Order: sequence, then C-alpha cells, then structure tokens
Amino acid sequence: MKLLVLCLCLTFAASQNGVPCGVSVVQPITKRIVGGQVAVPGSWPWMVLVVDSLGYISGSGSIIDQHVILTSAQHFEGTGYSVFDLNLHQWRIYAGSHNISTTDPYEKTYHIRRVVLHPGYNVTSLENDIALIITVEPMQWNDATRPVCLPDAQHGFQVGDNCYLPGWGSTQNTGNEETLNQLMMPILDDSICANHWNDFLPATEMCAGYENQQKDFCADDIGGPLVCKKSNGAWYVEGIASSGGDCTKTTDSPGVFEDVTQYQDWILKTMEESGYPYQY
Ligand SMILES: *[C@@H]1O[C@H](CO)[C@@H](O)[C@H](O)[C@H]1NC(C)=O
Ligand SMILES: *[C@@H]1O[C@H](CO)[C@@H](O)[C@H](O)[C@H]1NC(C)=O
Repeated sequence: MKLLVLCLCLTFAASQNGVPCGVSVVQPITKRIVGGQVAVPGSWPWMVLVVDSLGYISGSGSIIDQHVILTSAQHFEGTGYSVFDLNLHQWRIYAGSHNISTTDPYEKTYHIRRVVLHPGYNVTSLENDIALIITVEPMQWNDATRPVCLPDAQHGFQVGDNCYLPGWGSTQNTGNEETLNQLMMPILDDSICANHWNDFLPATEMCAGYENQQKDFCADDIGGPLVCKKSNGAWYVEGIASSGGDCTKTTDSPGVFEDVTQYQDWILKTMEESGYPYQY
C-alpha cells in the first residue's frame, strides 16, 4: 500500500513539471487595441500579485518555475528600506488571481522563502532592477497558473513587436480597479526612451509603449512582465516593468523595462544555485 502511494506521488510530481512554458489554457484577447482593457480571467496565467506584510500590493511578478518568480528589485530595496529589514515571511504571493477583491476559483496563496536581488541593483538609477523570489511552497499548475518562457537568443524581441503588459495597476485606461487588465505596448527603439529619460540605460533596459498618448503603466504594475508571443506560439517575458510608468496624469513618455535577455545568465545561475534549475 505504501508503495502504491509513493507511485501516485511521483506521477503527480512529473505531471506538475510537465506543463510547457508560455502557453495559457484560456486564450488572451490579442486584438490590437491601443490602450488598456480587462483581461480574460486566467489568460495570463504566469501573473502573480506580490503583497507586503501589511497587506498592501507591492507589485507584480511572473512565474518562471514552480518555485521561482521573476520581478523587480525595487519591491524589496529602495530609499529608506532594505530587503534585510522586511518581514518577508509575512509577505504573500497570489497566483491564479483575477479580481483582487474576491477569492478567484484558481487563486492560491504562497509564502516567500528568499529574495535574491541582482548584485548590481542601484536604488538611485534603478540599474539592474531585477530580482527572483523563491517560494516556500511549489506553485500548483492549474488553468490559471502556469509559467511564462524566459527569452533566449532565438526568442528575443524586435522593435515594432506588439507586446502586452498585464497588470492590476492600469486602472486609468479601463476604469476597472479590481480585475487584471492588459495593455498592448509596442517595443520602441532605445533612442525614443533616451530622448525622454536622460538616465535611460540602453545596454540593459528596453523601451515600450507610446509617445504623446495617455497609455502607461501604474505603480502596481512594477515588476510585471512585458510578454511577447513568438512564432512558436509561446509567450516570452521580454521585459520587467521598472520605471517611466505614470498613470496618474496625462503622459507622453514610454515605459522603461529591464531587458530580460540581458539577464539570462544571472537568472539561470541564480536558479541553479537556489536548487531550481530552469526547466525549459
Ligand atoms: C470583484 O469582486 C467583488 C467582490 O466579490 C465584486 O463586488 C466585484 O463586482 C468584482 N469585480 C468585477 C469587475 O467582477
Ligand atoms: C547609482 O546610481 C547613481 C545615479 O546614477 C550614481 O551616482 C551612483 O554612483 C550609482 N552607485 C553605484 C554604486 O554604482
């Protein structure tokens, strides 16, 4: 009897790991709508909400492994706060969530074991604004919880690609404050961000969004993934929302994202060292 139980457990573990990256069960809307719209529940299944020890939304992140979330470093370290002072064991990760005011059918809560900030993260310039969250519990795959793909040399972005930033912060565009929204953001040439932001870092940052329009991301979107669909049909996390987002006023500046491709080595090495080598 004991043997039978063990076998069932192993089968379960294998199927948990067997889901492909970047493939949602529920298809997202990908009509080329300029501006924000409410997302189909579960259609961006790698999205997680990062909630601090007081219950406030710190931002978003994306699942790249059952134990690993890709996000921005600024959730954990900035002017006046440090990752060493935070009660990380009281923070929560919400996966499978759609409406923040209700417990959605696939929603599950996870705890943080450890946060690894990029060693070159600079709180002033936001250079290397990237971090990995290692969860205590493995995240359970379901119809609204799945990993996104990490880009590699074959699956990078190009200027002109129409990518999407799903997030709970883009309320200005849709008027819906509770549910996951999505914003189509075209990738722009680095020079456009360099014209708007004199501290833009073209070696490690990427530029996406709009000039002279009112579409931008909000604070709660920080750390969220800019995802692009590649010709193999899978979604890749090309950028991490870092700065430039200002949805509180009419903005004419695009958004600044960390260029995930530039951090591939660091991400893979950190996952390996954490005991969760990248599986895709
Ligand atoms: C979100 O959930 C709350 C609480 O159940 C509900 O009142 C609200 O209508 C929901 N919002 C949407 C857009 O479904
Ligand atoms: C961090 O960025 C600021 C502003 O660009 C710069 O003055 C400072 O030297 C940087 N710090 C480090 C340690 O690189």
